[in-house]
Amino acid sequence: MRDARTGGRFPGVMRILTVCLGNICRSPAAEAAIRAAAAEAGFEAEVDSAGTGRYHIGDPPHPRSQAAGAAAGLAVEGRARQIRLEDFEEFDVIVAMDHANLEDLRRLAPSADGLAKVHLFRDFDPESVGEEVPDPYYGTDEDYREMIDLILPAARGLVARLQGSDS
Ligand code: 4NP
Repeated sequence: MRDARTGGRFPGVMRILTVCLGNICRSPAAEAAIRAAAAEAGFEAEVDSAGTGRYHIGDPPHPRSQAAGAAAGLAVEGRARQIRLEDFEEFDVIVAMDHANLEDLRRLAPSADGLAKVHLFRDFDPESVGEEVPDPYYGTDEDYREMIDLILPAARGLVARLQGSDS
């Protein structure tokens, strides 16, 4: 069933896109964390992820990202895809994992409306404004565990902020 006024989107459902470089490490984990935080908060959200790069299109999340996520109760899944211009229309909030992703998204945004949707993910964690989720790709298992530790409070903060603005 589609909603005529919103062109297919139900007004109450917030659509959130997480973005990193490869869409195999950070953004799928952030996607899972936001989904979990939304479920916990009873907040209705559709969550997806994408990469700015093309390197891993079609790949599942990195096994170390899946493992670190699973240890925190997160189902890190999906297939990597690249950001597309329609994403700036179709999503309500687009969160970048690091400053390079943020700059790439700002450069790609096809409209002022689209640009206004782009944020740095950890800005939603009041303790970590301006901070990145560092790229763990060439790092250790510990780096992946730390990645999850950074992602969880940002995901909860994002949901809390959206829930606040939703009422
Ligand atoms: P992600 O990590 O951006 O968190 O998915 C990376 C994955 C792959 C590459 C870089 C970062 N890469 O260069 O292939």
